[in-house]
Amino acid sequence: MQFNFQNPTRINFGAGKLSELGTEAGTYGKKALLVTGGGSVKRNGTFDRALESLKAAGVSAVECAGVEPNPRLSTVLRGAQIARDEGCDVVVALGGGSTMDAAKAMAAMVFYEGEPWDMFFSSEGTFIPPTKALPIITVPTLAATGSEMNNGAVITNEETTEKSFVNAPVLFPKVAIVDPELTVTVPKDQTAYGVCDLITHVTEGYFNGVDGTPLQDRFAEGVIQTAMEWGPKAVADGNDLEARAQVQWASVVALNGWVQVGTSAGYPVHMIEHTLSAHHDVAHAAGLAVVNPSWMRFAARKRPERFARFAERVLGVERNGKTDEDAAREGIDRFEAFLRSIGCPTHLSELGIGDELIERYAEDTLRIINDGKGNLPARPPMSREDIIEVLRGAL
Ligand code: NZQ
Ligand code: ZN
Repeated sequence: MQFNFQNPTRINFGAGKLSELGTEAGTYGKKALLVTGGGSVKRNGTFDRALESLKAAGVSAVECAGVEPNPRLSTVLRGAQIARDEGCDVVVALGGGSTMDAAKAMAAMVFYEGEPWDMFFSSEGTFIPPTKALPIITVPTLAATGSEMNNGAVITNEETTEKSFVNAPVLFPKVAIVDPELTVTVPKDQTAYGVCDLITHVTEGYFNGVDGTPLQDRFAEGVIQTAMEWGPKAVADGNDLEARAQVQWASVVALNGWVQVGTSAGYPVHMIEHTLSAHHDVAHAAGLAVVNPSWMRFAARKRPERFARFAERVLGVERNGKTDEDAAREGIDRFEAFLRSIGCPTHLSELGIGDELIERYAEDTLRIINDGKGNLPARPPMSREDIIEVLRGAL
């Protein structure tokens, strides 16, 4: 195990923390680009409260509204242009992962001199990560991606039907204002997807990482168990602020780097899902819920002992003399049943996706990211045929 790790994002966590937005933003400038999604923050009053806090601190705001789920490159360019034209000196993201990712990319695109799509990772094409960005403040209104406290952004190129990511130190938000009160209006389906997303961030590292990371394993198991305990409560009663808070904290920890540090893990389930949402504009974690159980069944064949451990420690499967293979199978079945119990789909057909383009999904995924030998980085590395097998298993 070897790593260099830093996460410089300050987190202000708890109900009511939105009121600290203005003071925090005022540290970085006098004019904010306020990035929002399709209007939920207007309907539930969060937008007005954010503006009030900014105004009280002497920070004016210019809005870039209309960031769509699975945010588009054109939206990033539009926001960056507003920031340049208006001379904004700080970017505030007020919304879900899509809004935060778009805002982070806008903050960097303001200074980016290359071809815009080159900012996003590609194993086959050009990839020039950004080196400069406006200061970013994130205010998540949905517990899911962890984008509020990490250096990643995921953007869709609508012209090429590709969805890719960028990770760069300049994309770490300066501050994440994580106020669970802002999430009480999230509908049941998006709440469940958020729970699935955060769990999947952790399972990727748990199953694809190097050996010899016992502390990270324990972190991961704790995050998943916390999500499985509190997630159903947040789905059942959206106004349960305690459940909202526990789920949101789990979602931050699941992808702020701490759990995965030193594991050097690939993210195969994410990479395959990104291709599905690029083609079909499905909710990210609805796609994950479909791909992950099928991927687990595939990967468990190569390493049943790892999946048996997951079954025992996380899903409470009792061994009673069962083989690793049997325990692993039971654990994955229970995991899939959990996803269904909170309302996630677990078959491609539920997303309206058939088998017509399955080869294309595999090839597109590998074009975005491969290990130089034509495989998707994962444990085990996945060939084109392996990806097809996993997708067929999810039909
Ligand atoms: O757009 P609005 O009107 O705000 O509505 C959104 C949207 O329709 C709604 N919503 C958000 N907060 C709400 C609310 N509705 C009511 N009350 C609230 N408080 O929820 C819907 C989905 O929002 P979205 O931002 O798309 O969801 P999510 O947070 O799941 O973000 C998904 C995006 O993040 C990327 C995904 O690929 C996807 O594009 N990811 C980003 C990551 C990162 N930066 O680290 C990692 C993830 O693995 C993921 O890939
Ligand atoms: Zn995710």
